[in-house]
Amino acid sequence: MIDQLDRKIVRWCCAAIVCAFSTCAIAADSTTLPAATTLRAAAGDRLLIGTAIMASHLREPAHARLLAGQFNAITGGNEFKPDALQKINGKFTFERADEIVSFARENRMQVIGHTLVWHNQSPKWLYEDAAGKPLARETALENMRRHITTVVTHFKGKVKGWDVVNEAISDGGNDYLRDTPARRAIGDDYVEKAFEFARNADPDVELYYNDYNIELPGKREKCVRLLRELKAKGLRVDAVGIQGHWQLKHPAAQVIEDAIRAFAAEGVKVHVTELDIDVLPRTRQGAEITDTEKEGANPYVAGLPADIAGAQGDRYRSLFEVFVKFPGVVTRITFWGSHDGNTWLNDWPVRGRTNHPLLWDRQLQPKPAFDGVIDVLNKPSGG
Ligand code: G3I
Repeated sequence: MIDQLDRKIVRWCCAAIVCAFSTCAIAADSTTLPAATTLRAAAGDRLLIGTAIMASHLREPAHARLLAGQFNAITGGNEFKPDALQKINGKFTFERADEIVSFARENRMQVIGHTLVWHNQSPKWLYEDAAGKPLARETALENMRRHITTVVTHFKGKVKGWDVVNEAISDGGNDYLRDTPARRAIGDDYVEKAFEFARNADPDVELYYNDYNIELPGKREKCVRLLRELKAKGLRVDAVGIQGHWQLKHPAAQVIEDAIRAFAAEGVKVHVTELDIDVLPRTRQGAEITDTEKEGANPYVAGLPADIAGAQGDRYRSLFEVFVKFPGVVTRITFWGSHDGNTWLNDWPVRGRTNHPLLWDRQLQPKPAFDGVIDVLNKPSGG
């Protein structure tokens, strides 16, 4: 009887000791490896996690703290574009871009230069005469060369990489390159010339081709063609930037995964460069919009309903699950903004709506979107 009782006591004690040890082990594990609470900590050195900012954000203390705490890369949303750096021919204005570079240095963030050649936010004089006619090829080429050389040289050692050419590929069915002022003046080789000028100005800086919808079949094949043509000319493209202005359901995660695989097969890295998830209906653009279209086009003025916020969190989660399948290929993911109050999508495709595409709300509170992203980054296999 006593024996039996003794054996029972011994068994209980053993069980208690084993239990205590395993609890300790779990506790020790979670103390040594707590889940990171910032994107940059969760990403570690596997991945750059960036955001687009404006120099004015640096004068908003709470916002600037959030940027520095969460991200390890920044892209100037407007400050590095041709009209910001050389609005007047020969007069370079680097002050606001330099402010962004200083902030990045102080906070150990990489800077991405956006962009050297684009058909938007570029002064007309670069590629057109006063009457709007294309400049002679040699004049336009020299304007482009001087812009690229001066800008890339100024930021040498400060900028990790440049979106050398932005949005050169045509959306339309059979057209290959978009009809732009640079192409009209210089010809189809304006893209390769831009890459050549950038490489010559700084052989160490990374060079990117950046565009939207290139994950979609059609534009994706044109982008692959462009990469092959540049390579055949002996030019270097380090990464393709898929902008990533996406919606709750479109495009399918599988389409994005297929595109990453297709670009990786061309020997380039893949960056997601302007990520946001639009939650509003896609109306037609600006002046064309009818009153009927306007009604119902702005449904979340009072705030994002919990079910939509949850769906957006799930969408971000599934996108990041795709990105982390490609360690060493998908090496940067940049959001186009940080909180919903400062997104371009409040003013596109129509002005003055209340959109909610980012990870923090207008009070800088993290949304389910933030949880979706950081959960994936915190998984041991993440990235
Ligand atoms: O600075 C002026 C301000 O003085 C004026 O009062 C105000 C009135 O509208 O406009 C301000 O300029 C705006 C500027 O952003 C700065 O906020 C321009 O109107 C506006 O057109 C401009 O929009 C930028 C857009 O590119 C223009 O193409 C967005 O901020 C910028 O986020 C957006 O970024 C692009 C990427 O470069 C390329 N991919 C698409 C992406 C989203 O459109």
